[in-house]
Amino acid sequence: MRPFPVHLLSMEDLDAGQIAEVLRVSDSFAEVGRRASPKVPTLRGRTVATLFFEDSTRTRMSFETAAKRMSADVLSFAHGSSSIKKGESLRDTVETVEAMGIDAMIVRHASSGVPDRVARWVDHSVVVNAGDGAHQHPTQALLDCYTVREALGGGEDGLARFGGLRVAIVGDVRHSRVARSQIVAYAALGAEVTLVAPATLLPPSLEGWPVVAVEHDIDAVLPKADVVSLLRVQAERGSGVLLPSLREYTSGYGLTARCATMLQPGAVILHPGPLVRGVEIASEVAELPQSLITDQVANGVAVRMAVLFLLLGRDAHHGRLEEVPDRG
Ligand code: NCD
Repeated sequence: MRPFPVHLLSMEDLDAGQIAEVLRVSDSFAEVGRRASPKVPTLRGRTVATLFFEDSTRTRMSFETAAKRMSADVLSFAHGSSSIKKGESLRDTVETVEAMGIDAMIVRHASSGVPDRVARWVDHSVVVNAGDGAHQHPTQALLDCYTVREALGGGEDGLARFGGLRVAIVGDVRHSRVARSQIVAYAALGAEVTLVAPATLLPPSLEGWPVVAVEHDIDAVLPKADVVSLLRVQAERGSGVLLPSLREYTSGYGLTARCATMLQPGAVILHPGPLVRGVEIASEVAELPQSLITDQVANGVAVRMAVLFLLLGRDAHHGRLEEVPDRG
């Protein structure tokens, strides 16, 4: 198997074997999360900084929870109250943070490519992309794969069931870093990805995207789908002008209560959050038992612990990945 990359910047950095490795290690950390005291000493003495230049609730809290459960020290950079406001450059900010002895930087930015640039500027820290523009959000795709693998029975058997699995990704694909990461991850594991979106919310070209079909009729896709993964309409990235109205979007592409009745038994619904209830998903659909939205959030912590372990924890454990240490 290829060694795990130094940084996690894109889903393209991982092949199928490495994705499977993240999911396997996540199982051990999910077990830690179920303990009465969900904490292990794995990253004691290490410092993880979250550098979020864009708003976030779940991703930042998820990474910080993951790092704290591994006993790392956590520094939280808030762009709104930082020296960026006084005109400091991104590079100077990153170099300043690294000079404090940071081991890992978790970077989110509204511009595509920022985590890649940060990775070139740092000397020794590892960099994890927590979402950059409409480019990539690899840990979201990994936690989605983990959640689907659990729904398929978990473990190696669940992983094997990705072969030929029909995944429909519905919504604002054009502006979605989540979709770009999911498509690569699902396809690497053998799933067949169909995109469902109005033409204006698709990227100008899909050349090189590992998708089997693009559909504009959600009713034709839902009865055949095993996984329906919804995307938020990214109004802050300009989707508003590309749609006649949100009401029309919902009637054509929203997972309404009527649409949900078309799903096969056993089909599951995912959404990375934040949900805009009543637009891409009806409130009652989000509450259905086959909706795995809260499982995604819970699994996100275990998956991010696994990513931090694979990027940082190896030195501490002499390259052995088989055992997550007991609490200490
Ligand atoms: C997404 C994001 O920020 O890319 N949310 C997340 O990280 N869970 C999706 C979105 O904002 O719609």
